[in-house]
Amino acid sequence: MRTAILELLKQNSGQYISGEEISQALHVSRTAVWKHIQALKLAGYEIEAHTRLGYALRQSTDRLLPEEIKVHLTSVVLGQEIHYFSEIGSTNNEAKKLATNGCPEGTIVVAEAQITGRGRLARGWFSPPGKGIWLSVVLRPPFSPMDAAKCTLMAAVGVNRAINSVTGTGCGIKWPNDILWQGRKVVGILTEMSAEMDAINYVVIGMGINVNIDQQDFPSEIAATATSLAVAAGRRISRVKLLTAILAELESTYNTVKASGFAPVLADWRQQSITLGQQVDVRGVERHFTGLAVDIDADGALLIKTPNGIERVLAGDVSIRPAGMF
Ligand code: BTN
Repeated sequence: MRTAILELLKQNSGQYISGEEISQALHVSRTAVWKHIQALKLAGYEIEAHTRLGYALRQSTDRLLPEEIKVHLTSVVLGQEIHYFSEIGSTNNEAKKLATNGCPEGTIVVAEAQITGRGRLARGWFSPPGKGIWLSVVLRPPFSPMDAAKCTLMAAVGVNRAINSVTGTGCGIKWPNDILWQGRKVVGILTEMSAEMDAINYVVIGMGINVNIDQQDFPSEIAATATSLAVAAGRRISRVKLLTAILAELESTYNTVKASGFAPVLADWRQQSITLGQQVDVRGVERHFTGLAVDIDADGALLIKTPNGIERVLAGDVSIRPAGMF
C-alpha cells in the first residue's frame, strides 16, 4: 500500500492530491492513507500536507527503501522480499541467518551502512552510509556444491553488465569477481554457501558497490586501489536504479545457467575479463608465482602459463602486473 501511495504521489509530480482521491483510488480509508504518509515521512520522504489540498511529494529520498526499490523492480524472483537496514553489521551475516531460517529464494538484504562489512580473504569492506550499495542476495541453486565457485563468476557477469548499462563506464572483471575501472576496484563480491554432500542449501551473494563515494573519502589503505562509479562516470549515480538493474541482470544470468549450464556465462565472463591476456601475480596460501593469464576452465579456475607449464588457480589473490614489470 505504501508503495502504491508513493507511486500516486510521484505520478502527480509535486502537485497536491487529496487524501480522498488517494483513498478512492486505492480502496483504503483516509486514516490508513494518513498513517502511510506519516510512515513515508519518517522514512525520509519530504511530503507536504495541506488540510484542504491534500498531499504533495516535494522530494524523493535517495535511500534504498523497499518502497523505492519496488517502484523500479523488474526482476520477478530477486528482490521480492526485501530486508532493509539503515545500519547493520554485515548484510551477508543477516542473509545467512534468514536463509538458515528458510527465507524464500531471491530474498535480499540491503543496508545504508555496514559496521563490520566483510571482504574476501578475511578482509574488511569499507561501507559508508548512503554512498554505496551493500547488498546480499539469497539463492537456492539446484546445482552441485562443486559448482559453487562458478556462482561467483555468474554474479560478476550479471553485476558488470548492469553497471556498464547504467553508468556507461566500461568496467571489466578481474578474476574471479572484482569489478575494476581503470585498474581500480569499484565492486567486490563475497559468495558464501551452506551445503550438504550433494546439494546446496543456499548461496549468499554479497556485493559491495562503491557508487557515490568521493575519491578523497576512501581510507588511506585503499585510496590508491579503489574508486567509485560516480568518479568513473563523472556524475552521481541513482543507487535505486543501479540496484534494480543488478537484480534484473543477475536474475537473467542465473536463469541462463539453470536453462543451459555455465558455458554461456563463462563465455560472457571471458569477454568482460580484464585479467585474460595479462601478466599476473598469484598469492595463494602456500605459493606465490607469476605468469600469463591465458583462460578460465570449465570449473572457473584461472589458467596461468608459467615456465613450468600451465598452473590452475581456484582460490587466492591475483593481481595484474603493470606493463613493463617483466
Ligand atoms: C571483496 O573482498 O572483494 C568482497 C567484498 C564484499 C563486500 C560485500 S558488501 C555486502 C556484503 N556484506 C558483507 O559483509 N560483505 C559483502
